[in-house]
Amino acid sequence: MSTICVIGTGYVGLVTGTCFSDMGNQVTCVDIIPEKIERLKQGILPIYEPGLEEMVARNVHAGRLHFTTSYSEGLDNCDFIFIAVNTPTGSSQGGADMRYVESAARGIAQELDHQALIINKSTVPVGSGDVVSRIIRKNLKRPEVHFAVISNPEFLREGSAVQDFQNPDRVVLGSSDQEAARKVATLYLPRYLLSMKLRRSANAWERTSKRLRREWATISE
Ligand SMILES: NC(=O)c1ccc[n+]([C@@H]2O[C@H](COP(=O)([O-])OP(=O)(O)OC[C@H]3O[C@@H](n4cnc5c(N)ncnc54)[C@H](O)[C@@H]3O)[C@@H](O)[C@H]2O)c1
Repeated sequence: MSTICVIGTGYVGLVTGTCFSDMGNQVTCVDIIPEKIERLKQGILPIYEPGLEEMVARNVHAGRLHFTTSYSEGLDNCDFIFIAVNTPTGSSQGGADMRYVESAARGIAQELDHQALIINKSTVPVGSGDVVSRIIRKNLKRPEVHFAVISNPEFLREGSAVQDFQNPDRVVLGSSDQEAARKVATLYLPRYLLSMKLRRSANAWERTSKRLRREWATISE
């Protein structure tokens, strides 16, 4: 099992962090809004998603899910760092506002003191992986620390976010470091395989029941 830090505790970050902790990983979710973190620590969620509140409570109780405003606490010993901050369409060209992603990258760089994989889940334009890499490289407090940046765009839908995480029909990963992307894939693999297995059983059941209906119709005639 892995140690994961999720930066940004909104829709994507809270669901991602909680679902990864439910798979047995140690997860710390970081946000810059102290009131949000305080409320999360009391079990009060900023969003409603079916099943999420129970899942948060279960994993907090099991000691696998933590909330903090401190990057240093969140990054402590973690293998994977997910960036899941907001990217509003705010620029004059109508593109994504990268300010929060850039600020998260600087926050990571200032506290990272060990090797880690940094995965961007925020919706960003092509080439943002290089931007994040450059910001981290430039601001690393320990320049010798090795890191890789992986892009992992999110497809969850509000209202079925937990269900979408647990039954992904695709997980998209991109990086110039293939080995790093492969390591991130292993995080998702248990869910992805289960989802494929369930889908195959559902398809097999569908085929069998269609055949049975056809045969029954033939017999009835
Ligand atoms: N919500 C969706 O359905 C959805 C689906 C697919 C992709 N996305 C993308 O995922 C990203 C996150 O979306 P969301 O809906 O979860 O956003 P959100 O606004 O619900 O949450 C973002 C969180 O990030 C926090 N934050 C901002 N800057 C921070 C920083 N520097 N350090 C720590 N925390 C910081 C904010 O306080 C907020 O709690 C966006 O790029 C969005 O486009 C969202």
